[in-house]
Amino acid sequence: MSKKFYQLDLAGRQDILRQQAGLTDEDLSAYLPEGGMKPQLADAMVENAIGVFGLPLGIAQHFVVNGRAVLVPMAIEEPSVIASASFMAKLAHASGGFKAHMTSQEMNGQLQVLDLPDPYAAATLVQEHKAELLALVNQNAPRLVDRGGGARDIETRIIEDSPIGPFLVVHLVLDTRDAMGANAINSALEQLAEPVAELTGGRVHLKILSNLADRRLATAEATFAPEILAFGDYSGEEVRDGILEAWAFAAADPYRAATHNKGIMNGVDAVVIATGNDWRAIEAGAHAFAARNGHYTSLSTWRKDENGHLHGSLTLPMAVGTVGGATRVHPTAQANLKLMGVKSAQNLGEIIVSVGLAQNLAAMRALSTEGIQRGHMSLHARQIALSVGATPDQAQRIAAQLVKEKNINAQRAGEILAEMKENHDE
Ligand code: MEV
Repeated sequence: MSKKFYQLDLAGRQDILRQQAGLTDEDLSAYLPEGGMKPQLADAMVENAIGVFGLPLGIAQHFVVNGRAVLVPMAIEEPSVIASASFMAKLAHASGGFKAHMTSQEMNGQLQVLDLPDPYAAATLVQEHKAELLALVNQNAPRLVDRGGGARDIETRIIEDSPIGPFLVVHLVLDTRDAMGANAINSALEQLAEPVAELTGGRVHLKILSNLADRRLATAEATFAPEILAFGDYSGEEVRDGILEAWAFAAADPYRAATHNKGIMNGVDAVVIATGNDWRAIEAGAHAFAARNGHYTSLSTWRKDENGHLHGSLTLPMAVGTVGGATRVHPTAQANLKLMGVKSAQNLGEIIVSVGLAQNLAAMRALSTEGIQRGHMSLHARQIALSVGATPDQAQRIAAQLVKEKNINAQRAGEILAEMKENHDE
């Protein structure tokens, strides 16, 4: 019988990528130290560079998003995340996988307009001149407009209550297409600052995008029949109801919601990082969105549907790109985008939010049944073995022994390693 993906060695897994995703040897070399980001590139990207920092990169399997099977690259140091995402994606198969969509690729940018005697009158003036302001942005961004993007709207808001009193905020809505768009929107805001100052007679202070990208929302949904959820001594109904109780906790309590959402971001960030995107932007957007109604709550929603099936949905601001920035220059990010076969920022966002939903289900399923430590610790055992000086090969064997003994700790790992050395079993 042929080996499963996780049973293969690194080279064997890369062969699967060659066969299933059409990666070439050159693409695959991006996964090796000599082909990934080189120190010279790092030096060109940031100041005071001294080298590059590695993270494990793995493949989440079994994902089907909008009917398309996709191998999902995840860059993450935490054991069990990739395995649990893959397992939940497998469970989602029975009901057709994940259905996902995005609202648009529109970013919000903000101008803070100060020193206005009447911010409301200034807002009206900006609204009256909206068409000219939008045209100005588009004139300055011909390439974006050619790609179907550009300025879409200008909105005005008055912040009534602030430590410096009331002021006007002008929002520029810019469709940045397949780019994350930070540079496009920040440049457009700087171009708008002078005309807005002249128009309103005010002083334009900050000019910066908002990471609360609530016009660029990605949603994923999936349904799970109870029999799919059953495991061990737990019936499917018990698992389903336990998950709904776990979700209720996160929906109602910010202490729990923070951890619940962290679990979602385990999946989200890993793909965002693997594709060279700005994970701080995604984190900031996600948590601001989680607090959009005035209290911090769960980013996901789970319910029992009319058939008694568990239904989950997750919506997140998803400002990611497939062109521009590190996505374009990082060889491993390039290989990962090719591996996923994504054609657009929308495609990528839909996959990322699906992984977030899978990760959320995995955590709640474990927490509401046997707890996370069993699965987590057996994978963690390998890291413990590495931390006491075992080679990767020794670490596999030490981890297996620690799990067998149900005694996963560094002291015991050290003892087993010492025994191996004594017996020249290295
Ligand atoms: C650990 O990285 C993530 C979890 O804590 C998420 C959760 O509690 O839902 C398991």
